[in-house]
Amino acid sequence: MKELTSEKLNGRFYTPEFIVNRIIELTGYNGQGVLKKHIIDNSCGDGAFLVAVVDIYCKEFLKHCTDTALLSEELSAYIHGIDIDKAAIGKCIENLNKTVKRYGLKCVEWDVNCSDALIGCKYYGKMDFVLGNPPYVRVHNLGSAIDNIKKFSFAKNGMTDLFIVFFEIGLKMLNENGVLGYITPSSFFNSLAGRYMRSYLVNNNLIDKIVDLKHFQVFDATTYTAITVLKNNRTKITTEYFRLEDKNNLVYEDTFKAEDFYICDNFYFSDKKRLSELKRILTFKTGKEYFFVKNGFATLDDKFFIGDFDFGEFTIPVVKASTGKRYKCIFPYKEGKLVPYSELENNSDIKKHYAGNKGKLSKRSIEKNGKWYGFGRSQGINDVYKCKYSINALIKTPSDIKLIKCDKGVGVYSGLYILTEARESELREMLCGDDFITYISLLGKYKSGGYYTFSSKELKNYLEYKYAQRKVFENGQ
Ligand SMILES: C[S@@+](CC[C@H](N)C(=O)[O-])C[C@H]1O[C@@H](n2cnc3c(N)ncnc32)[C@H](O)[C@@H]1O
Repeated sequence: MKELTSEKLNGRFYTPEFIVNRIIELTGYNGQGVLKKHIIDNSCGDGAFLVAVVDIYCKEFLKHCTDTALLSEELSAYIHGIDIDKAAIGKCIENLNKTVKRYGLKCVEWDVNCSDALIGCKYYGKMDFVLGNPPYVRVHNLGSAIDNIKKFSFAKNGMTDLFIVFFEIGLKMLNENGVLGYITPSSFFNSLAGRYMRSYLVNNNLIDKIVDLKHFQVFDATTYTAITVLKNNRTKITTEYFRLEDKNNLVYEDTFKAEDFYICDNFYFSDKKRLSELKRILTFKTGKEYFFVKNGFATLDDKFFIGDFDFGEFTIPVVKASTGKRYKCIFPYKEGKLVPYSELENNSDIKKHYAGNKGKLSKRSIEKNGKWYGFGRSQGINDVYKCKYSINALIKTPSDIKLIKCDKGVGVYSGLYILTEARESELREMLCGDDFITYISLLGKYKSGGYYTFSSKELKNYLEYKYAQRKVFENGQ
Protein backbone atom coordinates (compact mmCIF):
# COMPACT_ATOMS: atom_id res chain seq x y z
CA MET A 1 0.00 0.00 0.00
CA LYS A 2 1.18 3.50 -0.81
CA GLU A 3 2.17 5.31 2.37
CA LEU A 4 -0.05 8.20 3.31
CA THR A 5 1.65 11.43 4.17
CA SER A 6 0.62 13.23 7.36
CA GLU A 7 -0.81 15.94 5.08
CA LYS A 8 -3.16 13.36 3.55
CA LEU A 9 -4.23 11.94 6.89
CA ASN A 10 -4.97 15.27 8.53
CA GLY A 11 -5.86 17.31 5.46
CA ARG A 12 -3.17 19.74 6.47
CA PHE A 13 -2.28 22.02 3.60
CA TYR A 14 -2.04 25.55 4.96
CA THR A 15 -3.45 28.43 2.98
CA PRO A 16 -1.24 30.93 1.13
CA GLU A 17 -1.71 34.61 1.95
CA PHE A 18 -3.16 35.64 -1.42
CA ILE A 19 -6.03 33.16 -0.98
CA VAL A 20 -6.64 34.23 2.63
CA ASN A 21 -6.88 37.84 1.50
CA ARG A 22 -9.26 36.97 -1.34
CA ILE A 23 -11.60 35.11 1.00
CA ILE A 24 -11.54 37.97 3.49
CA GLU A 25 -12.35 40.41 0.67
CA LEU A 26 -15.14 38.24 -0.77
CA THR A 27 -16.86 37.74 2.59
CA GLY A 28 -16.80 41.48 3.29
CA TYR A 29 -14.73 41.25 6.46
CA ASN A 30 -13.45 44.81 6.27
CA GLY A 31 -13.83 48.35 7.56
CA GLN A 32 -15.39 49.35 10.84
CA GLY A 33 -17.97 46.60 10.26
CA VAL A 34 -15.52 44.01 11.64
CA LEU A 35 -15.59 45.50 15.13
CA LYS A 36 -17.47 43.44 17.71
CA LYS A 37 -18.18 40.77 15.09
CA HIS A 38 -17.53 37.15 16.02
CA ILE A 39 -15.27 35.31 13.63
CA ILE A 40 -13.94 31.75 13.72
CA ASP A 41 -11.64 29.49 11.76
CA ASN A 42 -12.82 26.05 12.86
CA SER A 43 -9.70 24.27 11.58
CA CYS A 44 -7.25 27.11 12.07
CA GLY A 45 -3.93 25.26 11.72
CA ASP A 46 -1.09 27.68 12.42
CA GLY A 47 -3.43 30.63 11.90
CA ALA A 48 -3.20 31.74 8.25
CA PHE A 49 -6.71 33.24 8.43
CA LEU A 50 -6.69 34.35 12.06
CA VAL A 51 -3.44 36.29 11.68
CA ALA A 52 -4.90 38.27 8.77
CA VAL A 53 -8.20 38.77 10.61
CA VAL A 54 -6.46 40.01 13.77
CA ASP A 55 -4.38 42.40 11.72
CA ILE A 56 -7.54 43.91 10.20
CA TYR A 57 -9.27 44.07 13.58
CA CYS A 58 -6.35 45.92 15.21
CA LYS A 59 -6.09 48.44 12.36
CA GLU A 60 -9.82 49.19 12.38
CA PHE A 61 -10.01 49.40 16.19
CA LEU A 62 -7.04 51.74 16.48
CA LYS A 63 -8.59 54.10 13.93
CA HIS A 64 -11.09 55.27 16.54
CA CYS A 65 -9.61 54.26 19.91
CA THR A 66 -6.14 53.98 21.43
CA ASP A 67 -7.10 51.85 24.43
CA THR A 68 -4.97 48.74 23.86
CA ALA A 69 -6.32 47.01 26.97
CA LEU A 70 -9.81 47.27 25.47
CA LEU A 71 -8.47 46.03 22.12
CA SER A 72 -6.98 42.96 23.90
CA GLU A 73 -10.34 42.26 25.53
CA GLU A 74 -12.19 42.53 22.21
CA LEU A 75 -9.70 40.26 20.45
CA SER A 76 -10.22 37.55 23.04
CA ALA A 77 -14.00 38.01 22.93
CA TYR A 78 -14.53 38.11 19.14
CA ILE A 79 -11.71 36.13 17.48
CA HIS A 80 -12.01 32.34 17.78
CA GLY A 81 -10.11 29.36 16.50
CA ILE A 82 -10.03 25.62 16.97
CA ASP A 83 -7.91 22.83 15.54
CA ILE A 84 -7.51 19.19 16.42
CA ASP A 85 -3.74 19.48 16.24
CA LYS A 86 -2.22 20.70 19.52
CA ALA A 87 1.12 21.67 17.97
CA ALA A 88 -0.66 23.75 15.30
CA ILE A 89 -2.63 25.56 18.02
CA GLY A 90 0.64 26.41 19.81
CA LYS A 91 2.08 27.78 16.57
CA CYS A 92 -1.13 29.69 15.85
CA ILE A 93 -1.02 31.45 19.25
CA GLU A 94 2.63 32.27 18.68
CA ASN A 95 1.77 33.79 15.27
CA LEU A 96 -1.12 35.78 16.72
CA ASN A 97 1.09 37.14 19.52
CA LYS A 98 3.65 38.24 16.95
CA THR A 99 0.91 40.04 15.01
CA VAL A 100 -0.49 42.00 17.96
CA LYS A 101 2.99 42.89 19.18
CA ARG A 102 3.26 45.18 16.17
CA TYR A 103 0.32 47.14 17.59
CA GLY A 104 1.86 47.44 21.07
CA LEU A 105 -0.25 44.66 22.67
CA LYS A 106 1.45 42.37 25.15
CA CYS A 107 -0.95 39.72 26.29
CA VAL A 108 -4.16 38.60 24.71
CA GLU A 109 -6.09 35.67 26.15
CA TRP A 110 -6.77 34.03 22.84
CA ASP A 111 -9.88 31.93 22.43
CA VAL A 112 -7.89 29.53 20.28
CA ASN A 113 -8.06 25.94 21.46
CA CYS A 114 -7.24 22.39 20.63
CA SER A 115 -10.56 20.71 19.99
CA ASP A 116 -12.43 18.53 17.51
CA ALA A 117 -14.84 20.48 15.31
CA LEU A 118 -16.81 17.29 14.66
CA ILE A 119 -18.00 17.27 18.23
CA GLY A 120 -20.82 19.80 18.69
CA CYS A 121 -19.62 23.00 20.22
CA LYS A 122 -20.29 26.25 22.01
CA TYR A 123 -19.95 28.31 18.83
CA TYR A 124 -23.12 27.04 17.13
CA GLY A 125 -25.40 29.92 16.07
CA LYS A 126 -23.03 32.60 17.34
CA MET A 127 -20.63 33.54 14.54
CA ASP A 128 -20.89 36.51 12.18
CA PHE A 129 -18.08 35.05 10.03
CA VAL A 130 -16.71 31.56 9.53
CA LEU A 131 -13.58 31.54 7.38
CA GLY A 132 -11.15 28.82 6.54
CA ASN A 133 -9.67 26.01 4.60
CA PRO A 134 -11.17 22.89 6.15
CA PRO A 135 -9.33 19.57 6.10
CA TYR A 136 -9.57 17.47 2.95
CA VAL A 137 -9.47 13.83 3.99
CA ARG A 138 -11.09 11.04 2.01
CA VAL A 139 -13.49 8.96 4.04
CA HIS A 140 -11.37 5.80 3.83
CA ASN A 141 -8.52 7.63 5.59
CA LEU A 142 -10.71 9.00 8.36
CA GLY A 143 -10.29 6.22 10.93
CA SER A 144 -12.35 6.57 14.10
CA ALA A 145 -13.69 10.02 13.14
CA ILE A 146 -16.13 8.26 10.83
CA ASP A 147 -18.72 7.69 13.59
CA ASN A 148 -18.88 11.42 14.31
CA ILE A 149 -19.06 12.20 10.61
CA LYS A 150 -22.05 9.96 10.00
CA LYS A 151 -24.12 12.19 12.32
CA PHE A 152 -24.00 15.07 9.84
CA SER A 153 -26.65 15.44 7.14
CA PHE A 154 -24.09 16.51 4.54
CA ALA A 155 -22.49 13.06 4.92
CA LYS A 156 -25.74 11.42 3.79
CA ASN A 157 -24.53 10.32 0.38
CA GLY A 158 -21.99 7.87 1.73
CA MET A 159 -18.46 8.18 0.35
CA THR A 160 -17.58 11.61 1.57
CA ASP A 161 -14.69 13.91 2.23
CA LEU A 162 -14.21 15.67 5.56
CA PHE A 163 -14.47 19.15 4.01
CA ILE A 164 -18.11 18.50 3.07
CA VAL A 165 -18.96 17.97 6.73
CA PHE A 166 -17.06 21.16 7.58
CA PHE A 167 -19.51 23.09 5.40
CA GLU A 168 -22.29 21.84 7.67
CA ILE A 169 -20.28 22.64 10.82
CA GLY A 170 -19.53 26.12 9.48
CA LEU A 171 -23.19 26.77 8.65
CA LYS A 172 -24.19 25.59 12.12
CA MET A 173 -21.77 28.10 13.61
CA LEU A 174 -23.22 31.07 11.72
CA ASN A 175 -25.74 33.38 13.35
CA GLU A 176 -28.83 34.43 11.41
CA ASN A 177 -27.01 36.92 9.17
CA GLY A 178 -23.64 35.16 9.21
CA VAL A 179 -21.25 34.74 6.26
CA LEU A 180 -19.05 31.75 5.52
CA GLY A 181 -16.01 31.76 3.21
CA TYR A 182 -14.06 28.57 2.52
CA ILE A 183 -11.53 27.32 0.04
CA THR A 184 -12.19 23.62 -0.60
CA PRO A 185 -11.89 21.06 -3.39
CA SER A 186 -14.30 21.93 -6.20
CA SER A 187 -15.21 18.25 -6.40
CA PHE A 188 -18.40 19.00 -4.44
CA PHE A 189 -19.76 20.67 -7.61
CA ASN A 190 -20.36 17.27 -9.17
CA SER A 191 -19.45 14.49 -6.73
CA LEU A 192 -21.99 12.03 -5.41
CA ALA A 193 -20.77 12.85 -1.89
CA GLY A 194 -21.71 16.50 -2.43
CA ARG A 195 -25.21 15.83 -3.76
CA TYR A 196 -27.20 16.48 -0.59
CA MET A 197 -25.12 19.54 0.22
CA ARG A 198 -25.71 21.03 -3.24
CA SER A 199 -29.46 20.72 -2.90
CA TYR A 200 -29.32 22.14 0.64
CA LEU A 201 -27.30 25.17 -0.44
CA VAL A 202 -29.62 25.89 -3.37
CA ASN A 203 -32.88 25.24 -1.52
CA ASN A 204 -31.83 27.58 1.27
CA ASN A 205 -30.58 30.30 -1.10
CA LEU A 206 -27.18 30.35 0.60
CA ILE A 207 -24.69 30.65 -2.27
CA ASP A 208 -23.54 34.24 -2.56
CA LYS A 209 -20.27 33.92 -4.49
CA ILE A 210 -18.23 31.23 -6.20
CA VAL A 211 -14.67 31.44 -7.46
CA ASP A 212 -13.78 28.37 -9.46
CA LEU A 213 -10.01 28.03 -9.53
CA LYS A 214 -10.27 25.37 -12.23
CA HIS A 215 -6.78 24.08 -13.09
CA PHE A 216 -5.05 26.75 -10.96
CA GLN A 217 -3.12 24.88 -8.24
CA VAL A 218 -3.01 26.57 -4.83
CA PHE A 219 -1.63 23.70 -2.77
CA ASP A 220 1.23 21.24 -3.16
CA ALA A 221 -1.18 18.57 -4.27
CA THR A 222 -3.29 17.74 -7.27
CA THR A 223 -6.34 19.36 -5.76
CA TYR A 224 -8.72 21.43 -7.84
CA THR A 225 -10.28 24.05 -5.65
CA ALA A 226 -12.99 26.69 -5.40
CA ILE A 227 -13.80 29.50 -3.02
CA THR A 228 -17.38 29.41 -1.79
CA VAL A 229 -19.09 32.27 0.04
CA LEU A 230 -22.36 31.38 1.77
CA LYS A 231 -24.66 33.87 3.45
CA ASN A 232 -27.65 33.42 5.72
CA ASN A 233 -30.81 35.46 5.12
CA ARG A 234 -29.91 36.80 1.70
CA THR A 235 -32.30 39.25 0.10
CA LYS A 236 -31.07 38.51 -3.44
CA ILE A 237 -31.52 35.16 -5.15
CA THR A 238 -28.46 35.32 -7.39
CA THR A 239 -24.87 34.09 -7.16
CA GLU A 240 -21.86 36.00 -8.40
CA TYR A 241 -19.31 33.92 -10.24
CA PHE A 242 -15.61 34.81 -10.54
CA ARG A 243 -12.51 33.28 -12.09
CA LEU A 244 -9.01 33.53 -10.68
CA GLU A 245 -6.81 34.28 -13.69
CA ASP A 246 -3.64 34.30 -11.61
CA LYS A 247 -2.59 35.16 -8.06
CA ASN A 248 -3.42 38.84 -8.48
CA ASN A 249 -6.35 38.72 -10.86
CA LEU A 250 -9.84 37.92 -9.73
CA VAL A 251 -12.16 38.37 -12.69
CA TYR A 252 -15.92 38.82 -12.29
CA GLU A 253 -17.59 36.58 -14.86
CA ASP A 254 -21.37 36.63 -14.42
CA THR A 255 -24.32 36.63 -12.04
CA PHE A 256 -26.57 33.57 -12.02
CA LYS A 257 -29.82 32.31 -10.68
CA ALA A 258 -29.57 28.80 -9.26
CA GLU A 259 -31.37 27.34 -12.29
CA ASP A 260 -28.52 28.61 -14.50
CA PHE A 261 -25.74 26.66 -12.76
CA TYR A 262 -27.62 23.89 -10.89
CA ILE A 263 -28.15 21.43 -13.72
CA CYS A 264 -29.15 17.78 -13.28
CA ASP A 265 -28.20 17.96 -9.58
CA ASN A 266 -24.67 19.25 -10.28
CA PHE A 267 -23.05 22.68 -10.26
CA TYR A 268 -21.46 24.05 -13.43
CA PHE A 269 -19.83 27.45 -13.85
CA SER A 270 -18.99 29.42 -16.97
CA ASP A 271 -20.57 32.36 -18.78
CA LYS A 272 -24.34 32.33 -19.24
CA LYS A 273 -24.28 31.51 -22.95
CA ARG A 274 -22.12 28.43 -22.49
CA LEU A 275 -24.08 27.33 -19.45
CA SER A 276 -27.37 27.46 -21.30
CA GLU A 277 -25.90 25.35 -24.15
CA LEU A 278 -24.58 22.92 -21.53
CA LYS A 279 -28.01 22.72 -19.95
CA ARG A 280 -29.59 21.96 -23.33
CA ILE A 281 -27.11 19.11 -23.87
CA LEU A 282 -27.37 17.60 -20.40
CA THR A 283 -31.15 17.71 -20.31
CA PHE A 284 -31.68 16.64 -23.94
CA LYS A 285 -34.15 13.78 -24.28
CA THR A 286 -33.91 11.76 -27.44
CA GLY A 287 -36.79 9.79 -28.96
CA LYS A 288 -34.63 7.24 -30.72
CA GLU A 289 -31.14 6.50 -29.38
CA TYR A 290 -28.44 6.73 -32.05
CA PHE A 291 -25.38 6.28 -29.83
CA PHE A 292 -24.33 3.79 -27.18
CA VAL A 293 -21.16 4.61 -25.30
CA LYS A 294 -19.55 1.92 -23.20
CA ASN A 295 -16.43 1.04 -21.27
CA GLY A 296 -13.86 -1.19 -22.93
CA PHE A 297 -12.49 -4.46 -21.54
CA ALA A 298 -11.56 -4.67 -17.88
CA THR A 299 -9.11 -7.59 -17.83
CA LEU A 300 -7.83 -6.43 -14.43
CA ASP A 301 -4.40 -7.61 -15.58
CA ASP A 302 -3.58 -5.94 -18.90
CA LYS A 303 0.06 -7.01 -18.62
CA PHE A 304 -0.98 -10.64 -18.80
CA PHE A 305 -3.78 -10.41 -21.37
CA ILE A 306 -2.43 -7.75 -23.71
CA GLY A 307 0.87 -7.60 -25.56
CA ASP A 308 2.70 -7.88 -28.81
CA PHE A 309 2.21 -11.66 -28.89
CA ASP A 310 0.00 -13.57 -31.33
CA PHE A 311 -1.19 -17.01 -30.28
CA GLY A 312 -3.51 -17.50 -33.26
CA GLU A 313 -6.77 -18.91 -31.94
CA PHE A 314 -8.01 -17.09 -28.81
CA THR A 315 -6.03 -13.95 -29.64
CA ILE A 316 -7.75 -10.90 -31.14
CA PRO A 317 -6.52 -7.45 -32.19
CA VAL A 318 -7.31 -4.73 -29.64
CA VAL A 319 -7.14 -0.94 -29.57
CA LYS A 320 -5.98 0.82 -26.45
CA ALA A 321 -8.53 3.66 -26.46
CA SER A 322 -6.40 5.98 -24.31
CA THR A 323 -3.56 6.02 -26.86
CA GLY A 324 -5.17 4.75 -30.05
CA LYS A 325 -2.43 2.09 -30.35
CA ARG A 326 -3.08 -1.44 -31.54
CA TYR A 327 -2.01 -4.66 -29.76
CA LYS A 328 -3.04 -8.29 -29.44
CA CYS A 329 -5.15 -9.64 -26.62
CA ILE A 330 -5.84 -13.10 -25.24
CA PHE A 331 -9.57 -13.57 -25.73
CA PRO A 332 -10.81 -16.83 -24.20
CA TYR A 333 -14.37 -16.32 -25.41
CA LYS A 334 -16.60 -17.68 -28.15
CA GLU A 335 -19.85 -15.92 -29.01
CA GLY A 336 -19.42 -13.88 -25.85
CA LYS A 337 -19.10 -16.96 -23.61
CA LEU A 338 -15.98 -18.02 -21.74
CA VAL A 339 -14.65 -21.27 -23.23
CA PRO A 340 -13.77 -24.15 -20.88
CA TYR A 341 -10.15 -24.01 -19.75
CA SER A 342 -9.58 -27.50 -21.23
CA GLU A 343 -10.37 -26.07 -24.68
CA LEU A 344 -7.99 -23.17 -24.12
CA GLU A 345 -5.23 -25.56 -23.10
CA ASN A 346 -5.37 -27.26 -26.50
CA ASN A 347 -3.46 -24.26 -27.77
CA SER A 348 0.05 -25.00 -26.51
CA ASP A 349 1.23 -21.37 -26.77
CA ILE A 350 -1.66 -20.14 -24.64
CA LYS A 351 -1.15 -23.01 -22.21
CA LYS A 352 2.45 -21.88 -21.81
CA HIS A 353 1.35 -18.27 -21.32
CA TYR A 354 -1.10 -19.21 -18.54
CA ALA A 355 1.32 -21.64 -16.87
CA GLY A 356 2.29 -20.48 -13.42
CA ASN A 357 -0.11 -17.51 -13.45
CA LYS A 358 -3.21 -19.08 -11.90
CA GLY A 359 -2.39 -17.72 -8.41
CA LYS A 360 -1.82 -14.18 -9.64
CA LEU A 361 -4.93 -14.16 -11.87
CA SER A 362 -7.14 -15.58 -9.12
CA LYS A 363 -6.22 -12.68 -6.87
CA ARG A 364 -7.96 -10.12 -9.14
CA SER A 365 -11.34 -8.92 -7.87
CA ILE A 366 -13.15 -10.90 -10.54
CA GLU A 367 -16.89 -10.28 -10.91
CA LYS A 368 -19.42 -12.85 -9.73
CA ASN A 369 -19.59 -15.84 -12.09
CA GLY A 370 -16.21 -14.91 -13.60
CA LYS A 371 -13.37 -17.45 -13.80
CA TRP A 372 -9.67 -17.11 -13.00
CA TYR A 373 -8.58 -17.41 -16.65
CA GLY A 374 -11.13 -14.91 -18.05
CA PHE A 375 -11.29 -11.11 -17.90
CA GLY A 376 -12.04 -9.49 -14.55
CA ARG A 377 -15.33 -8.05 -15.88
CA SER A 378 -17.56 -8.96 -18.80
CA GLN A 379 -17.85 -5.39 -20.17
CA GLY A 380 -16.99 -4.93 -23.81
CA ILE A 381 -16.90 -8.68 -24.59
CA ASN A 382 -20.20 -8.99 -26.49
CA ASP A 383 -19.45 -5.93 -28.61
CA VAL A 384 -16.22 -7.43 -30.00
CA TYR A 385 -18.36 -8.77 -32.83
CA LYS A 386 -19.68 -5.32 -33.75
CA CYS A 387 -18.16 -2.39 -35.59
CA LYS A 388 -17.37 0.48 -33.18
CA TYR A 389 -15.16 3.50 -32.49
CA SER A 390 -12.76 3.69 -29.57
CA ILE A 391 -12.18 7.06 -27.93
CA ASN A 392 -9.88 8.33 -25.20
CA ALA A 393 -11.48 10.01 -22.16
CA LEU A 394 -8.61 12.35 -21.25
CA ILE A 395 -8.34 15.41 -23.47
CA LYS A 396 -7.20 19.00 -23.52
CA THR A 397 -7.46 20.15 -27.15
CA PRO A 398 -9.25 18.79 -30.25
CA SER A 399 -5.97 17.31 -31.46
CA ASP A 400 -5.87 15.04 -28.38
CA ILE A 401 -8.94 13.13 -29.52
CA LYS A 402 -8.13 9.65 -30.71
CA LEU A 403 -11.20 8.30 -32.44
CA ILE A 404 -10.29 4.92 -33.93
CA LYS A 405 -12.55 2.82 -36.11
CA CYS A 406 -12.54 -0.78 -34.80
CA ASP A 407 -13.91 -3.39 -37.19
CA LYS A 408 -15.85 -6.48 -36.17
CA GLY A 409 -13.53 -8.79 -34.23
CA VAL A 410 -11.46 -6.00 -32.68
CA GLY A 411 -11.59 -5.38 -28.93
CA VAL A 412 -11.23 -2.09 -27.04
CA TYR A 413 -9.62 -1.52 -23.65
CA SER A 414 -8.43 1.37 -21.49
CA GLY A 415 -11.15 3.81 -22.49
CA LEU A 416 -14.56 4.11 -24.07
CA TYR A 417 -16.11 2.99 -27.33
CA ILE A 418 -19.09 4.20 -29.32
CA LEU A 419 -21.61 2.00 -31.11
CA THR A 420 -23.51 3.87 -33.77
CA GLU A 421 -24.94 3.75 -37.22
CA ALA A 422 -23.93 7.36 -37.82
CA ARG A 423 -21.23 7.82 -40.45
CA GLU A 424 -17.59 8.04 -39.36
CA SER A 425 -17.30 11.48 -40.96
CA GLU A 426 -20.29 12.72 -38.93
CA LEU A 427 -18.78 11.37 -35.72
CA ARG A 428 -15.46 13.06 -36.46
CA GLU A 429 -17.16 16.37 -37.20
CA MET A 430 -19.04 16.23 -33.90
CA LEU A 431 -16.07 15.23 -31.76
CA CYS A 432 -12.96 16.71 -33.29
CA GLY A 433 -13.87 20.39 -33.02
CA ASP A 434 -13.85 23.16 -30.41
CA ASP A 435 -17.48 22.62 -29.36
CA PHE A 436 -16.74 19.23 -27.88
CA ILE A 437 -13.72 20.47 -25.89
CA THR A 438 -15.75 23.42 -24.62
CA TYR A 439 -18.47 21.03 -23.46
CA ILE A 440 -15.97 18.72 -21.75
CA SER A 441 -14.21 21.61 -20.01
CA LEU A 442 -17.55 22.84 -18.64
CA LEU A 443 -18.16 19.48 -16.98
CA GLY A 444 -15.34 20.48 -14.65
CA LYS A 445 -13.61 17.14 -14.23
CA TYR A 446 -10.05 18.39 -14.02
CA LYS A 447 -6.93 16.29 -14.46
CA SER A 448 -3.30 17.31 -14.12
CA GLY A 449 -1.56 19.12 -16.97
CA GLY A 450 -4.70 21.05 -17.96
CA TYR A 451 -6.57 17.90 -19.07
CA TYR A 452 -10.25 17.00 -18.62
CA THR A 453 -12.03 13.70 -18.37
CA PHE A 454 -15.65 12.68 -19.03
CA SER A 455 -17.99 9.74 -18.53
CA SER A 456 -19.74 7.51 -21.05
CA LYS A 457 -23.07 9.16 -20.19
CA GLU A 458 -21.67 12.65 -20.76
CA LEU A 459 -20.31 11.63 -24.16
CA LYS A 460 -23.59 9.98 -25.14
CA ASN A 461 -25.61 13.07 -24.15
CA TYR A 462 -23.40 15.24 -26.30
CA LEU A 463 -23.59 12.95 -29.34
CA GLU A 464 -27.37 12.52 -29.19
CA TYR A 465 -27.86 16.29 -28.88
CA LYS A 466 -25.44 17.25 -31.65
CA TYR A 467 -26.74 14.55 -33.95
CA ALA A 468 -30.33 15.69 -33.47
CA GLN A 469 -29.22 19.26 -34.26
CA ARG A 470 -27.55 18.06 -37.46
CA LYS A 471 -30.70 16.22 -38.51
CA VAL A 472 -32.84 19.30 -37.92
CA PHE A 473 -30.37 21.33 -39.97
CA GLU A 474 -30.20 18.77 -42.80
CA ASN A 475 -34.01 18.45 -42.95
CA GLY A 476 -34.34 22.21 -43.06
CA GLN A 477 -32.05 22.46 -46.12
C1 LIG B 1 -6.20 22.42 5.27
S1 LIG B 1 -5.61 22.71 6.90
C2 LIG B 1 -6.03 24.39 7.04
C3 LIG B 1 -5.44 25.08 8.17
C4 LIG B 1 -5.71 26.57 8.20
N1 LIG B 1 -7.15 26.85 8.26
C5 LIG B 1 -5.14 27.27 6.98
O1 LIG B 1 -5.95 27.70 6.16
O2 LIG B 1 -3.95 27.35 6.81
C6 LIG B 1 -6.83 21.85 7.82
C7 LIG B 1 -6.68 21.83 9.32
O3 LIG B 1 -7.77 21.09 9.84
C8 LIG B 1 -7.35 20.48 11.04
N2 LIG B 1 -8.32 19.45 11.40
C9 LIG B 1 -8.46 18.19 10.89
N3 LIG B 1 -9.49 17.57 11.48
C10 LIG B 1 -10.04 18.43 12.35
C11 LIG B 1 -11.14 18.37 13.26
N4 LIG B 1 -11.89 17.26 13.34
N5 LIG B 1 -11.41 19.45 14.03
C12 LIG B 1 -10.67 20.57 13.94
N6 LIG B 1 -9.61 20.69 13.11
C13 LIG B 1 -9.31 19.64 12.32
C14 LIG B 1 -5.94 19.98 10.70
O4 LIG B 1 -5.19 19.77 11.89
C15 LIG B 1 -5.41 21.16 9.85
O5 LIG B 1 -4.72 22.08 10.64
